[in-house]
Amino acid sequence: MLVAPSANRVYADAAPRLAAQEAMAVLGAFGSWTAVAPTQVAGVDYLRVESDSEHALDVLSNLSATFAIFAAEGELLRPIPLQRRQFYPDDVVTIQKYQGKTNEQWTRLLLNVTAAATKQPGRWLDGRLDVMDPMCGRGTTLNIALLAGYSVTGVDIDRKDYDTYAAFLKTWAQTHRLKHTMDRGASTTGGRARGREFTLEVAPDKDAFKAGETHTVRYLSTDTTELSGLVRAASIDVIVTDTPYGVQHGSHGDRLSRRPMELIDRALPAWTTTLRTGGAVGLSYNRHVAPADELALLLEQHGLTVVTDIEAAPFRHRVDASIDRDLIVARKD
Ligand SMILES: C[S@@+](CC[C@H](N)C(=O)[O-])C[C@H]1O[C@@H](n2cnc3c(N)ncnc32)[C@H](O)[C@@H]1O
Repeated sequence: MLVAPSANRVYADAAPRLAAQEAMAVLGAFGSWTAVAPTQVAGVDYLRVESDSEHALDVLSNLSATFAIFAAEGELLRPIPLQRRQFYPDDVVTIQKYQGKTNEQWTRLLLNVTAAATKQPGRWLDGRLDVMDPMCGRGTTLNIALLAGYSVTGVDIDRKDYDTYAAFLKTWAQTHRLKHTMDRGASTTGGRARGREFTLEVAPDKDAFKAGETHTVRYLSTDTTELSGLVRAASIDVIVTDTPYGVQHGSHGDRLSRRPMELIDRALPAWTTTLRTGGAVGLSYNRHVAPADELALLLEQHGLTVVTDIEAAPFRHRVDASIDRDLIVARKD
């Protein structure tokens, strides 16, 4: 596997290691692998993978750092067509640029590793995965999930993020002449106002739309600690989110954003209720503001089983002086 050059820009020296760890985590959910190791061919970073899983090509094609795949034949590399789950133009992920945007490649890695930790990882490949980002900002996770054809729900309290993202998504669908509908309105439960929401229903082409083969992006502009009546219980396979980093990100002035542990503690009851049994939560977090052992304990206290090895910390990497980034995945057993 040729590692995407963008991986080096995101993770610097850690790129080959993170690509290898992601491959091991996801291949492990689909059978076996005998070797996964970073290597160099003619001075370029590759990942050498040996696996007899029938899904190996599907898996490798859909990892976050995959640029190209080759079969090793003696000294030579024979290109193999990628089998990517990609239903839409990928500019949906790259067009928006703003302060506080979570890196796209890291978000994809988080989604992949979390889906692989569920009891039904097959949904990641066949598209039946129901994804939720309960603190979705301007939608990086939503865009990645839509691209791969998953149905996705986002929640964020920041009204400006909601408005900006709704406008972006509508314009994007129109620009690409994608057949779609977008319903926008107020969320209410039992007569009580609960914020705003929109649902985009879209299909890659007219025929698919007519046949009802659509994908949906639903976004709720509300407080993530209170989702009852808004998101159906036991309807989500994977919850993935980039938690506030405890550093000021311009517009996000929410009080709890600066205390991520307290926010996660208050939100977990709502989040776990929406999860199916066997589903998983994957959090990206800053070890400087959320100590790994405390976060693991918190997830366990909310009835989840932590599946990430927080000691070995295979995905931990330094972003800058104030962010020591890692992920943690826990399952609802
Ligand atoms: C690190 S940002 C996520 C950025 C997002 N991944 C993106 O790429 O646009 C964390 C988000 O948590 C949201 N947030 C903080 N407290 C919240 C709450 N109580 N309910 C919902 N969202 C909240 C903030 O508004 C912010 O958008």
